[in-house]
Amino acid sequence: MKLGRLNHVGVATPSINASIAHYRLTMGAEVVGEPFDLPAQGVRVCFVDTPNCQIELIEPLGDASPIRAFLEKNPLGGQHHVCFEVPDIREAKAWFEGRGCRVLGEPRIGAHGTPIFFLHPKDMGGVLTEIMESPSGP
Ligand code: CO
Repeated sequence: MKLGRLNHVGVATPSINASIAHYRLTMGAEVVGEPFDLPAQGVRVCFVDTPNCQIELIEPLGDASPIRAFLEKNPLGGQHHVCFEVPDIREAKAWFEGRGCRVLGEPRIGAHGTPIFFLHPKDMGGVLTEIMESPSGP
């Protein structure tokens, strides 16, 4: 497997709108996407562009949102995951499984419209890690 670029850093927030204001007014971000719902993942998402990477703001969507527990522990929000691109999601899944890393669920379509999966933080040095197929595909 060839590790690709860091695509985004996921940041959980209790309020996407408040976080957008923070990135615009305090951080000076100029390019902020439109927030959108990702019901399959139980989150509302908004991407903030930086020159080399994106920040993915994620707000809970629905009662079963996987980030609710995170926000209970971190009421202000905080860094939630990092996401790396790979050329081929199936190859990457087999690679990580072959190394004993726990893949959380089957690959599914992520916020960029390409397949993604998450790796258990206990197998990733404590970092919840998202693997995403590059938009250019395999
Ligand atoms: Co993400």
